[in-house]
Amino acid sequence: RKHLLSIDDVSADDAVTLFATAAEMHDVQSRQVKKLPALRGRTIINLFFEDSTRTRSSFEIAGKWLSADTINIAAKGSSASKGESLRDTVLTIAAMGVDALVMRHPASGAALQVSQWIDAAVINAGDGTHEHPTQALLDAYTLQRRLGGPGSLEGKRIAIVGDLTHSRVFRSNVLLLTKLGASVTVVAPPTLMPSGVGSWSREAGFATSYDLDEVLPTADAVMMLRVQRERMTGGYFPSAREYTVGYGLTRDRLRLLGPDVPICHPGPMNRGLEIAADAADAAQSAVLEQVSAGVAIRMAILYHLLAGDEA
Ligand code: CP
Repeated sequence: RKHLLSIDDVSADDAVTLFATAAEMHDVQSRQVKKLPALRGRTIINLFFEDSTRTRSSFEIAGKWLSADTINIAAKGSSASKGESLRDTVLTIAAMGVDALVMRHPASGAALQVSQWIDAAVINAGDGTHEHPTQALLDAYTLQRRLGGPGSLEGKRIAIVGDLTHSRVFRSNVLLLTKLGASVTVVAPPTLMPSGVGSWSREAGFATSYDLDEVLPTADAVMMLRVQRERMTGGYFPSAREYTVGYGLTRDRLRLLGPDVPICHPGPMNRGLEIAADAADAAQSAVLEQVSAGVAIRMAILYHLLAGDEA
């Protein structure tokens, strides 16, 4: 398979294979092995039109630990800021001879569009409010490790809570976790529940709720998502206080969760808004494990997309 644009590109068997490869990458991550030669001679460009800490740096580390040459281009420092079109930008980069383009863009569908313009493998590192497939893979991998190893997501009750309207992480996660057999309930205030979620949830097999206090006591894992103020233009959205009272994982709500229930957040976190410091820093928090898993999963993705190709 050439591209990773959506979780629709990843079957349950593909995910199992990626998780097994990611597990093998931990020897590199723990620095017992310094580097693997698998992608020697390959060039990977990280092209980011939106800010990123975790995704961009973990793709860079993943590429380097597989011996690829990795280069970062941020839109702010590129000729895109002088008005160059997306098509001209990616054709220019492709003309230099790259093997993979890891791209984040504010427009939904941008990665798919770019994959139709260039020959290099395209990896979607987040496109608007559409999808963030590598985040979903690292989240599912983290949860699988926490909940008992391979196959352990089957039947587990996972709550995904937050600003679902603006969340590409929610879209990719609900697709992948249901594919892996989890029983997913998504929770949001009515104004941040995506339109059309009713028919989508019936088709995809997940539940929706407006009542976080009802969902938390039976959850096997909880994933809190960021309130994306920067994407809230027009319409009614709850104030920060309203949001925290109704949907924040506060110190009080933490008591509704079992002590071993993993608490996930893809980051960056709004501490004190969707997640209290007591929850983010709790022993059961998996937030930094997610970051660590992000490197292993992205190594696995790059390996499976690029290692078999001719250099
Ligand atoms: N979770 C995530 O995508 O984080 P970054 O925006 O820091 O890459």
